[in-house]
Amino acid sequence: MEKIKSAVIGCGGIAQVHAQVLDAMEDVEIAAFADILPQRAQRMAEKYGGRAYESLEALLGAESPQVVHLCTPHYLHTPMAKLCAGRGIHVFTEKPPVISWDQWEEFKALKDQVRVGVCFQNRYNPSVKFLRQLLDGGKPGKVLGARAFVTWHREAPYYTESGWRGSLGTEGGGVLINQSIHTLDLLVQFLGKAAEVKASMGNHHLAGTIEVEDTLEAYIDFGGPKALFYASTAYCTDSPVLVELACENGTLRMEEEEVILFWRDGSVERRSLPVDGPVEGGKSYWGHSHRLCIRDFYRCVREGAAFPNDIPGVEDTIGLMLQIYDRARG
Ligand SMILES: NC(=O)c1ccc[n+]([C@@H]2O[C@H](COP(=O)([O-])OP(=O)(O)OC[C@H]3O[C@@H](n4cnc5c(N)ncnc54)[C@H](O)[C@@H]3O)[C@@H](O)[C@H]2O)c1
Repeated sequence: MEKIKSAVIGCGGIAQVHAQVLDAMEDVEIAAFADILPQRAQRMAEKYGGRAYESLEALLGAESPQVVHLCTPHYLHTPMAKLCAGRGIHVFTEKPPVISWDQWEEFKALKDQVRVGVCFQNRYNPSVKFLRQLLDGGKPGKVLGARAFVTWHREAPYYTESGWRGSLGTEGGGVLINQSIHTLDLLVQFLGKAAEVKASMGNHHLAGTIEVEDTLEAYIDFGGPKALFYASTAYCTDSPVLVELACENGTLRMEEEEVILFWRDGSVERRSLPVDGPVEGGKSYWGHSHRLCIRDFYRCVREGAAFPNDIPGVEDTIGLMLQIYDRARG
């Protein structure tokens, strides 16, 4: 089988996970890495093979990758995706694909040019798939309401040492667009497209250090069921993300890989559904489903199949995220 040539742009934290996943795929060759900090791209090239460049432009001038992975700061995903798509290169971008409505319009226009995938890897978590199947099977009945809590811990250096986090122009927002976008996405997976939202946000912990929110709450109307959404990086630790669906016949609670089903007749079922084999170097709060998500993207590229996290597949989540910011910013 001919190998698919890939390149990874941005060689910081999450790129390590992408490279490791790609390295283990027999049908992929990592042709090149790029980072504005050249030693980072160099280190990755030494470890995984391929050549190192100081920019996406330089890389594209010398290489012909078929797939580019965007592991750069948020504000760069859309312009970099456009550059690649304009050359017929498929794009697998880290979340969020955009930081504004304007970028979203530009990003959506790439839909028919190339295959575009967004890394919402938590959709591939066995616990998430289990709940989806349970709902589809009908046993829980209709979803009446939901709550989701992301309570994590981030200190000032996480922002100040990154060069891009904490600033509206480069991160686009705080705990919503960065950490809890995955959880918002899961609510959309379970409840569908949101109809209306009320939201507020603030900065409790790092006011004066960062200009983005560290805490955000939203009341989301999913056209019937309403969801309470709360996300903060002002907590003292990274507690497991909680998503709970109150249904006609019971309450389905998921705390990452742990699922508890409280049925209306008083019976309780517990399931532990871990992802098989975590990726080395990944932080536990990222989840471990990058491998499943990336492999699925390449399967879709090879087979010409639709990728679930393509542009139409993330539209309801991105629209909701931008709507929440509109409401919270007033
Ligand atoms: N899916 C997940 O669970 C998950 C987890 C962590 C991070 N992420 C996402 O991955 C992206 C990167 O996050 P990170 O934590 O790895 O950040 P990071 O700061 O560790 O890495 C970003 C890298 O991009 C490089 N860079 C900046 N501008 C560049 C440019 N113009 N060209 C090339 N390289 C450039 C930086 O030098 C840095 O090495 C973000 O979008 C983040 O939200 C996703």
